[in-house]
Amino acid sequence: MGYMSSTPTTEQVNAALATVQDPEIHRPLTELDMVKSVEISADGAVSVGIYLTVAGCPMRGRIEKDVSAAVGKVPGVTGVTVDLDVMSEDQRKALQTKLRGGQAEKEIPFAKPNSLTKVFAVASGKGGVGKSSVTVNLAAAMAAQGHKVGVVDADIYGHSVPRMLGADDRPTKVEDMILPPTAHGIKVISVGMFTQGNQPVVWRGPMLHRALQQFLADVFWGDLDVLLMDLPPGTGDIAISVAQLLPNAEILVVTTPQQAAAEVAERAGAISAQTHQRVAGVIENMSYYQAPGSDERTYLFGEGGGQVVCDGLTKSLGTRVPLLGQIPLEVGLREGGDSGTPFVLSDPDSEAGKVLRSIAEELVGKPRGLSGMMLGISPARR
Ligand SMILES: Nc1ncnc2c1ncn2[C@@H]1O[C@H](COP(=O)(O)OP(=O)(O)OP(=O)(O)O)[C@@H](O)[C@H]1O
Ligand SMILES: [Mg+2]
Repeated sequence: MGYMSSTPTTEQVNAALATVQDPEIHRPLTELDMVKSVEISADGAVSVGIYLTVAGCPMRGRIEKDVSAAVGKVPGVTGVTVDLDVMSEDQRKALQTKLRGGQAEKEIPFAKPNSLTKVFAVASGKGGVGKSSVTVNLAAAMAAQGHKVGVVDADIYGHSVPRMLGADDRPTKVEDMILPPTAHGIKVISVGMFTQGNQPVVWRGPMLHRALQQFLADVFWGDLDVLLMDLPPGTGDIAISVAQLLPNAEILVVTTPQQAAAEVAERAGAISAQTHQRVAGVIENMSYYQAPGSDERTYLFGEGGGQVVCDGLTKSLGTRVPLLGQIPLEVGLREGGDSGTPFVLSDPDSEAGKVLRSIAEELVGKPRGLSGMMLGISPARR
């Protein structure tokens, strides 16, 4: 039985397979759990089953060839057949976890189909129209109304949100979880918290996407009712990333009454047609100025821009896009942004405060399950 003694063993074949690397991951197939089966017949014919990570893997031919060559070199092997199969979803996840050193891919909680968190992305065409001011004031109004609110400052270059909310603490890291600082009951995260001092950040598109993904997945948000995202002005990479990472995010368009601003704002809203997102409405900011004690309104930036954007978007999107409110110019609103106390909290009964509070209410309604949650404890006030 001299032939029997030269029949290759499973160990020998596995050792040969351990020399074959996945051409993309650059790790041995054996380590990647890509070897499905090894069958050796008495005549030295070896049949190897290989799991590809994805169907239609462009490297399939290469893997097949490398496996054949490596196993063919084992003494006693008379022929090699390679059967390709594809990993199941679970196997792929397990592999990803393995590659990440045991850490499972973090999911974005708000992107799950059963998420109860309402997500709003605050967008504008032009810069400086008051996006960040509107974001923090809406967040503060919603929090004061009893909602659990988070804010993501996705304006990588601007990042003014932490200052406007007085939340410039660094986030705490526990294990691999980032705990966001809280101000006025709002959880806040900003790229500004991860950069040194005031140095400008020059980030390319893929890095922005990754940063945003991280903000959304690695930050411990808890159970939020609302997440507001302050986007940079215009229709850039971030707006696309938000649409990809959070397809259920609704867009809030901020504009001034100026016609030129309105045209650009409409463009920012219109990308929702491509990303299939809903436009929750338009907010006109800096609508007019009314001096204290006077009943005369001065329309510094003209009139009608908000309505123009609503009409244009209603027409182009084919669904009604409402004008949610017109916020007047208020010295206190600017001061509140500089001092870190949102104006809706310091002067809720001002005209701007009233408009912002009514928009907040319209967007999120009554707090979810509030009656059950109060249990006689009055909500925190500041
Ligand atoms: N209704 C308002 N009344 C008075 N000042 C306002 C009002 N809205 C915004 N401001 C002030 O205008 C300036 C620009 O506002 P803000 O930073 O919110 O705009 P933005 O759209 O986020 O700007 P950017 O495009 O730079 O991110 C700030 O100083 C802010 O305090
Ligand atoms: Mg801003």
